[in-house]
Amino acid sequence: MLQKPRGTRDFLPEEMEARRTIEWRMREVARRWGYREVCTPEFEDLELFTMRSGEGIVEEMYVFEDKGGRKLALRPEITAAVIRMYINEAKVAPKPLRWCYFADCFRYERPQKGRYRQFWQFGVELIGADTAQADAEVITLSADLLDSTGVEYDLRVGHLSFMRNLLTDLEYPEQRRMMAYLDKKDFDGLKTTLESMNKPDLGASLVSLVECRDLTEAFEIAGTIPGKERIIRTTEYLDAAGVKYSLNFGIARGLDYYTGMVFEGFAQNLGAENQILGGGAYRLAHLFGGDDVASCGFAIGFDRVMVSLGEIRQKKETVVAIACTEEGRTRALKVARIFREAGIRSEMDLMERGLGAQLSHASRSADFAVVIGRREAESGNVTLKNLQSGEQKTLDITAAIAEVSCHGAR
Ligand code: HAM
Repeated sequence: MLQKPRGTRDFLPEEMEARRTIEWRMREVARRWGYREVCTPEFEDLELFTMRSGEGIVEEMYVFEDKGGRKLALRPEITAAVIRMYINEAKVAPKPLRWCYFADCFRYERPQKGRYRQFWQFGVELIGADTAQADAEVITLSADLLDSTGVEYDLRVGHLSFMRNLLTDLEYPEQRRMMAYLDKKDFDGLKTTLESMNKPDLGASLVSLVECRDLTEAFEIAGTIPGKERIIRTTEYLDAAGVKYSLNFGIARGLDYYTGMVFEGFAQNLGAENQILGGGAYRLAHLFGGDDVASCGFAIGFDRVMVSLGEIRQKKETVVAIACTEEGRTRALKVARIFREAGIRSEMDLMERGLGAQLSHASRSADFAVVIGRREAESGNVTLKNLQSGEQKTLDITAAIAEVSCHGAR
């Protein structure tokens, strides 16, 4: 028997309904903030992703050559594609641009719970606003989006300048190595490496920075930070908006394009794969041949949010079975259409069952049966049977629709 590819999932109707409910809550929040949906291709030129991250990233991607010999990759994330699209299509549009997306990404990772090879991100990119208020808007929106899902999470906000200030004397590859240690919280590895480089004090300062949760103290540890005022103001705006977050100067972020403020969200009830949100301020456009526009954004790991929420009990939709005899069939098809036009989920028998068998199937799959026999076909009325109570009445269509709709509203 054929199976789905490793790291992918099938979603049955119940799960899809739960996913769409949460997706639409997030879409509605994004709409209220003025973030409009964009869509980019599922695959891009490989170069779009290697340009900023180097060839190393190829190992983590689905890379292939098309029949024309072009090197392509399934998108491992959406930010680079959105910025490419901005340069191609919207460079001259009035700023800022507020864009959002809900789309699948592909990463060649070792699958486990919460880590898939195909997964969905709900993301936001704010392009062309380089202010404290812009940073604060994006962080506040990320909290609003997560709140709308009902997930319990911790939001951590940091800024790369602190760490970079301390690392400034190291060569770039060494800086990256140290940031990787900090990202993984491998303090022993960090200290040992810095000791071997004859910089033990740096190790101690970095560890105190990562453990520090206070802005004033962080400025003391890291020295003079460029953009200090902006960082202070961003936190003031977050406080004024009532965002619940903690400061964390150890956030290094895995992707290489971040330039300033960075933030991450963690689900409280998940184990190893508990990061449900990542983002920050970044500059990418200049790499792809555009202006050096400042941007800020984030992506929510939609599948991890769903894992964290667990089984979601959906409000049960009212289902109507349209049952008919042979003489009633043409009329029944019309009645089904009228019920559907009224927004009611209405299903007809497709198995050529007799009326009795239709009703018995309906009692297992529907809340009401609408019966159309010769009498109903002639009169234009319907017989409406409540399949829970067994109560049955003959009504005109408008009254029957009202009765069914009122059941759904209870
Ligand atoms: P990221 O942190 O690589 O950032 O991914 C964002 C989120 O996607 C993660 O926090 C996680 O919840 C989810 N995620 C990542 N990999 C997987 C996986 N294999 N399976 C399930 N979920 C996963 C970005 O992608 C940036 N583009 C975010 C951004 C937007 N920065 C600026 N704008």
